Amino acid sequence: MVRSETYHVAIDVGTTKVCTLIGRSDGNGDVQVIGVGTVPSRGMQKGMVSNLSEVQQVIQSSIREAEAQAGVKISSAYVGITGSHINYVNSRASLDNRRHNSLVGSGDVAQVVQACYADRNIGSNRVLHVIPRDYSIDGNWGVHDPVGMYASTIGVESHVVMADPTSVDNLVEALRKAGVKLRGLVIEPLASAEAVLSEDERDIGVVMVDMGGGTSDVSIFLEGSIWHTSVIPVGGFQITRDISIAFSTFSLAAEEAKLKYGHAIPAAMEDQEDLRLPGFGNQTFSQVSRQSLCEVIHDRVDELLRLILSEVNNAGLDSAPPGGLVLTGGSSKLPGLEELASSIWPGPVRIGVPTASAWVPQDLEDPAFSTALGLLFWDVRHSRVDGNAENGNGISKYSFLMKHWLNNLTHRVHA
Ligand SMILES: Nc1ncnc2c1ncn2[C@@H]1O[C@H](COP(=O)(O)OP(=O)(O)OP(=O)(O)O)[C@@H](O)[C@H]1O
Ligand SMILES: [Mg+2]
Repeated sequence: MVRSETYHVAIDVGTTKVCTLIGRSDGNGDVQVIGVGTVPSRGMQKGMVSNLSEVQQVIQSSIREAEAQAGVKISSAYVGITGSHINYVNSRASLDNRRHNSLVGSGDVAQVVQACYADRNIGSNRVLHVIPRDYSIDGNWGVHDPVGMYASTIGVESHVVMADPTSVDNLVEALRKAGVKLRGLVIEPLASAEAVLSEDERDIGVVMVDMGGGTSDVSIFLEGSIWHTSVIPVGGFQITRDISIAFSTFSLAAEEAKLKYGHAIPAAMEDQEDLRLPGFGNQTFSQVSRQSLCEVIHDRVDELLRLILSEVNNAGLDSAPPGGLVLTGGSSKLPGLEELASSIWPGPVRIGVPTASAWVPQDLEDPAFSTALGLLFWDVRHSRVDGNAENGNGISKYSFLMKHWLNNLTHRVHA
């Protein structure tokens, strides 16, 4: 069994692929990836479990592959969660009834942060993250960490992320059946941001989108912290489906055509050779111009980019943040995407690729691995931030709620 104080495990259960990463940390915040297990996904739709036993099987295959490469056995992991059921509130709370001008302790901070969601009307939603964005002391905002400071009143503004309990429970159940002990659930937009955004981008304000197979996960960062998260249920799968419908061809052929000949700008494909796509029924093959293929792709991607732009308004912002738009995820590999996005987005655009290093193998330098790598970094960084690590993986200020939630879940499961 792996000693969890030196090993970290991340599982990205995607709509297209399931990826398990095993990392070994050096205690200084760097993590070396020593095992990678990537298998095609089954039983997932739009980021959510649609067939529990299939998901259980693919998780197990992916873990086995990673374990064989790493030469270790794993038992617990950080896992990503997505789906359009994810929602949030930015909420403020304060703690007034303190002894006048006394020192703030970590218990006081936990209490005020808890008030951000405890008194809110979150209905039947399950709270996944309570991420403090800003603190105030006696009404003065902009305090990074009030612990150890004198105060009569502490205020906090938090980003509270919630999810539909059924979707959460089905993912947790698939993991439990696959033999995985859950160390934490992290929403995928936050995980991917860990892998591809710089601190400068988060500070100045940036929109990041992980364009996957079944969803496009949006996160907006302002002043260094998360401000808005949302999941658009459109990804590469829908592009492939559009091709399949437009040219009456099988989804496998449509996917192959997209990967081989796809481009987001049809005009760039003028004078390119036609391609042959297999058809249904008696129609064995049809001749399709590359430009018309790219028109279908363009229409869907253009619509998706405009939906992403509308998230700026949905987030309550008057204009797009100056750090621009960072696109990642497998679908961001579509040729011409950066160019098309630049023609729509009012600011800079780049494709976010995780960086390979002595610690991260070259194979993972691919936007499709942003979530998995981000989950691994999340585990390492947030257990380090915490300082009171429990089995090397304590509850940081970002995820203290998870401990409470996992305890409740465990009680429920064993009840
Ligand atoms: N070169 C490419 N051009 C266009 N699309 C691509 C390219 N390479 C991969 N894709 C698309 O990327 C998608 C898979 O991306 P990714 O691996 O990030 O998805 P996922 O994490 O499994 O899904 P999700 O996050 O939505 O649950 C597929 O739809 C695939 O067709
Ligand atoms: Mg994904």
